[in-house]
Amino acid sequence: MSLRERDTAVRELMDDPDCDPDRLAATLRRFRIVNRLVAAWGGVYRDHLRPHLVARQREGRGAARVLDLGSGGGDVIARLAGLARRDGLDVEWVGADPDPRAHAVASAAAIPGARFRCTDSGTLRAEGEVFDAVLSNHVLHHLAADELAAFADDSLALTDGPVLHGDIARSPAAYGLYAVGITPLAPGTFLRTDGLRSIRRSYRTEELAQALGPRWRVETPAAFRVLAVGTGRA
Ligand SMILES: C[S@@+](CC[C@H](N)C(=O)[O-])C[C@H]1O[C@@H](n2cnc3c(N)ncnc32)[C@H](O)[C@@H]1O
Repeated sequence: MSLRERDTAVRELMDDPDCDPDRLAATLRRFRIVNRLVAAWGGVYRDHLRPHLVARQREGRGAARVLDLGSGGGDVIARLAGLARRDGLDVEWVGADPDPRAHAVASAAAIPGARFRCTDSGTLRAEGEVFDAVLSNHVLHHLAADELAAFADDSLALTDGPVLHGDIARSPAAYGLYAVGITPLAPGTFLRTDGLRSIRRSYRTEELAQALGPRWRVETPAAFRVLAVGTGRA
């Protein structure tokens, strides 16, 4: 199989509303380990989010509100909330995901300092919500071109601070390493099939920069990762 071009026709099993609910819930819960291993949010927190949160707190502006769009089972919030707590930062974490199955898994995780809403970026924007920062993980590659444009624009409208969208970078090496490395974590989940399909759907750095346009800078925060960085305009 060639990974030279994005495969936008392939669909992930978890995007099927009729997929096995137990396997889906197990997949969402196990993202906590997988994202910890591959998604590089420790470095993104250190380089992008923490400096902003520290500056806000020094200005005495009270608890920060950070939004995770497409929060899935809440694993990225769990990780970031732990890092911020260790740094003595006062943050309210809000996860938003329109999929009720993801919302149920995230809510059940009972993450201190976090709350989850079963809603999407467009609804939050229409409500006039404004956060101190907005982020997402593994959402961009799921979206069709028109959905990507709307999602990116919503995210900029939802904050006056940094916007950070992390995702996989497509490459044959990522595909080969994931195919082998996911083996012990895959049983009972969609992790193997969906992870490989995700890589086929994902962008290379320059493709994502072109898809998002001039308001965005696309970085490589770690091997096999892309990070779209924007500045909100709320
Ligand atoms: C693969 S999951 C990522 C879950 C989680 N961020 C993680 O990394 O484990 C992508 C999620 O994005 C959500 N999503 C898609 N469009 C969205 C939008 N406009 N606003 C908020 N969430 C959205 C989907 O419902 C889906 O649960």
